[in-house]
Amino acid sequence: MNVLIVGNIFKDVYLRLDERLNNFEIDEQGTPWLDFAFNGSNYNFFRRSSIYGGAAIALEVMNRFGHDAHIAGARLGFVGGEVIPNDQIAAGYRYILCRGNKIAYLTSNDRKDTVWANPNEAIDWIYIDHSAGVTPELIREIKNFLSMSSHTRVAAYVSENLTEAEKPLLDIASMLFVDGKLSHDIKRPGSVCEISDSEIVLGEVTQTWRVERTDLMTRSTTHSIIAASVFSYLLYGKSVREALKLAKLNVENSSLSGTISLEKLKNLAKNYDDVEADISLVAAQLMATGKGILAADESGGSIHKKFEQLNILDDEAHRRDYRNILIGTPELERYVNGVILFDETTRQMSDDGRDFVAYLTAHGIIPGIKVDQGLVNFADSNEKYTEGLDGLSKRLDDYYQQGLRFAKWRAAFEITNDTPSEMAITKNAEILAKYAKACQQANIVPIVEPEVVYDGNYTIEQCADVTSKILDALFDELSKANVRLDSCILKCNMVLAGKQYPIQSTAEEVGRATANILKTHVPETLAGIVFLSGGQTVEQATENLHAVLLNGPFPWPITFSFARALQDPALFAWKGDNENIDKARVAFKERLIANTDALKV
Ligand code: 13P
Repeated sequence: MNVLIVGNIFKDVYLRLDERLNNFEIDEQGTPWLDFAFNGSNYNFFRRSSIYGGAAIALEVMNRFGHDAHIAGARLGFVGGEVIPNDQIAAGYRYILCRGNKIAYLTSNDRKDTVWANPNEAIDWIYIDHSAGVTPELIREIKNFLSMSSHTRVAAYVSENLTEAEKPLLDIASMLFVDGKLSHDIKRPGSVCEISDSEIVLGEVTQTWRVERTDLMTRSTTHSIIAASVFSYLLYGKSVREALKLAKLNVENSSLSGTISLEKLKNLAKNYDDVEADISLVAAQLMATGKGILAADESGGSIHKKFEQLNILDDEAHRRDYRNILIGTPELERYVNGVILFDETTRQMSDDGRDFVAYLTAHGIIPGIKVDQGLVNFADSNEKYTEGLDGLSKRLDDYYQQGLRFAKWRAAFEITNDTPSEMAITKNAEILAKYAKACQQANIVPIVEPEVVYDGNYTIEQCADVTSKILDALFDELSKANVRLDSCILKCNMVLAGKQYPIQSTAEEVGRATANILKTHVPETLAGIVFLSGGQTVEQATENLHAVLLNGPFPWPITFSFARALQDPALFAWKGDNENIDKARVAFKERLIANTDALKV
């Protein structure tokens, strides 16, 4: 495609400053100052490099994607894989000063208005870059050109706070790239791609991305690479999903020395897809026969309640010691495939000096993370939904970097005369699906946990009825959100009469009812099902687990993912006193053995 880029060119000069203090003058407050003479001989930079920024970035990306792109009015070419000035170009300078991980900019305020020059050749697209100083005059010239060249279309890249002069772009652009989020009162043109510091969003598709700032690319350079990559790939008629993925790979692999060619990006994408495919293998590993998943992910509030009943001091050291009893139990890997952690625990150290994530990984146990942020009431209602979608993609990316490979999100439903309502079921199912999708996009296996709480005065039939409705709504929403079921695990309550109901269900009844509901409401392609213990006694949970399995065969693997039913005896044995660690581990191991034995049928 023939693309005319409208924008300004900057020369970005990156100066990595020498961090040795003797190059700085220190004032009385101890602040290091730098006598900055730009002649280069007075001062030793660690490294000095420069690139053409602004519209030159768009030029480079588009050309590397195989389009014939030029910058209006600038004699700047793209030759042999490099941006080359054909002539002395009038580029504004920006200095980017880097010291350690800190970056500061020295830019001048006199942004130039962008001049328009009518092109000599036919133009398929005009791309108005972020760097353009859009004036009414420029808009008039472009409109004038469009009136003569009816097949030419316009794409524009603007910041979320549109200037008055930029507003007409909303009418003439068929594709808009926005740095930030377009306000809702603004009329949206055909397709809008919003780029934030961690996400690229176009329509229904969200792609996360991250670049370490120490890679020395300015924020505006990274955003320009993304916008130009999405634009370039969409011009080939490729899907939005593919375009956003390639943009992510381009920005994450580019450096000051250049962006990535389309051919290379396609190879990177292939590897990336292979990794993505791997999450079904992670799900399968989590469900590997004969073992379960330990839930040790109690939030701050939940662990506080647990400690309080035994008068255990709830401070960070005690929480670490307690988690260390469970995670550090010798041979834990014989009984569990994975452990679900709470955020705080991921940063705490095991006895061998590694953090718990590294410790588990080294022992062949997959570390997972609770990512929901607890329950809140719906407005004007006693029913609850689960919070935590804000910033979730970013958190998931960070957790992936930390080595966590699966996640958990719990929604809770109480059975009373008038709950759960259809509204609460649907809303929570929608949220669970959004969470699951975000996990898979971050290469993390989601465990979706819609829990019918055991507390309550209801019959086993009521529990069966409510559980089926919830499962139907959940799988409906998961399918709408295109969540891959082979890379998704269901964490479910057993079907039984409520704790306050006078006649408690027998293990035989629980086994039959639970198996029946799962077989009729859970799609066969799901990676697996795990049970929560929900406040049953430790023996009851183990016995009921075994009873369910006696009602097999099932199309999916089934196992346990208990918190209380695995942990309680250990917590009571420990009592907050590290003299009791061995006793606590013996008690814990007893539950691990009993529950893995219960899996044998
Ligand atoms: P319980 O087994 O104690 O119900 O906890 C499981 C769990 O992870 C709840 O989210």
